[in-house]
Amino acid sequence: MKAVTWHGKRDVRVEDVPDPTIQEPTDAIIRVTSTNICGSDLHLYEVLGAFMEPGDILGHEAMGIVQEVGSAVTQIKPGDQVVIPFQMSCGACFTCGEGLYSQCETTQVREYGSGAALFGYSKLYGEVAGGQAEYLRVPQAQFTHVVVPEGPPDERYVYLSDVLPTAWQAVAYAAVPKGGTVVILGLGPIGDMAARIAAYHGARVIGVDLVPDRLDRVRARGNEVVDLRDHEDDLGAVIRDLTDGRGADSVIDAVGMEAHVSPVPKIAQTLTGLLPKALARPLMRNAGVDRLSALYTAVDVVRRGGTISLSGVYGGAADPLPMLQMFDKQLQLRMGQANVKRWVPDILPLLDDEDVLGVESFATHRVPLSEAPHAYETFQKKEDGAVKFVMKP
Ligand SMILES: NC(=O)c1ccc[n+]([C@@H]2O[C@H](COP(=O)([O-])OP(=O)(O)OC[C@H]3O[C@@H](n4cnc5c(N)ncnc54)[C@H](O)[C@@H]3O)[C@@H](O)[C@H]2O)c1
Ligand SMILES: [Zn+2]
Ligand SMILES: [Zn+2]
Repeated sequence: MKAVTWHGKRDVRVEDVPDPTIQEPTDAIIRVTSTNICGSDLHLYEVLGAFMEPGDILGHEAMGIVQEVGSAVTQIKPGDQVVIPFQMSCGACFTCGEGLYSQCETTQVREYGSGAALFGYSKLYGEVAGGQAEYLRVPQAQFTHVVVPEGPPDERYVYLSDVLPTAWQAVAYAAVPKGGTVVILGLGPIGDMAARIAAYHGARVIGVDLVPDRLDRVRARGNEVVDLRDHEDDLGAVIRDLTDGRGADSVIDAVGMEAHVSPVPKIAQTLTGLLPKALARPLMRNAGVDRLSALYTAVDVVRRGGTISLSGVYGGAADPLPMLQMFDKQLQLRMGQANVKRWVPDILPLLDDEDVLGVESFATHRVPLSEAPHAYETFQKKEDGAVKFVMKP
């Protein structure tokens, strides 16, 4: 089959690889019909390469048709249309019982001290072959699936794999009080969708980014936006001016470890990119490698007693945090990989013909799988109005 494979920093290829096969009774094989590129894939493209091997198959936002199931999988059958959550979860362990599916104790990657295994996401998350391919092997398939109706286009449902539950969790964890204000830092797919969900729940949304098309998209849906390029030095003051001098009730960081920042602290990331893997891995696991500007901004613009919800991914082991300010402002902080199936029952009713969240027009680019290398580059450089790529194998 054809698959998108990782080969090094900013080097992804489309290659012929062996078709996946059933290996465990709890496996299923899916023929992929739609598969997206995510901002999280960009971390592998750039910063997290030390944990990848050439030839690793990328991707964690796939949906398709069940081809084959293992003997222990009775919940789905060949021909069913399914969306595959980005994490593998068993549905039966202690953490799954708590709805913490991204912490599943059956699939946790203990060698690296990580939570649930993720598709296409490096050794840190189990080095499981990803979904940017014609076929996908789904471990723990008895629970790791969402059956969706046939009929509507894939794009009605494909974001259940990641964008929708991640944005939903970001909003839930932000705990915006009734009639309150949420600042959303980063208006990529996650921030954009979080803005839609927060507004749907009645919050006042102020979006912040530095890419004009992304600001426009969020403004066009009736939200306020602030262009970081105009307010790099006084964003805190701007947000306080907009919120009775106090700051926002809640802040969602939908940026993560590769935040835009004026020159200096790129060093650790660049350094780990240049070192041989044997040296880069321990450095990344013992030191701070994150660019923290969005997180610092969140601490600055949230009001006293407010809540910060981190959905942007961070990966450093010892990043410096402004503890004085965080403690003094009495902040609440929630974070983590989205527990996909925890939120699906809340989201599914919104994916009807009314399409209140605008999922069917959410993608800016639809391309064949063969164009993955160009798609990754365009998405990373934020060129051509790119916000979301859906690939069709
Ligand atoms: N928690 C989860 O389960 C989960 C799931 C999916 C994605 N993510 C993470 O969410 C983050 C966003 O994902 P995405 O797909 O939207 O990615 P993206 O890279 O397309 O979006 C990030 C946006 O942040 C903007 N940005 C950069 N620096 C900024 C700053 N200092 N202030 C404000 N905006 C800034 C960028 O211009 C860009 O538009 C990534 O870190 C991704 O890994 C987490
Ligand atoms: Zn994703
Ligand atoms: Zn589990």
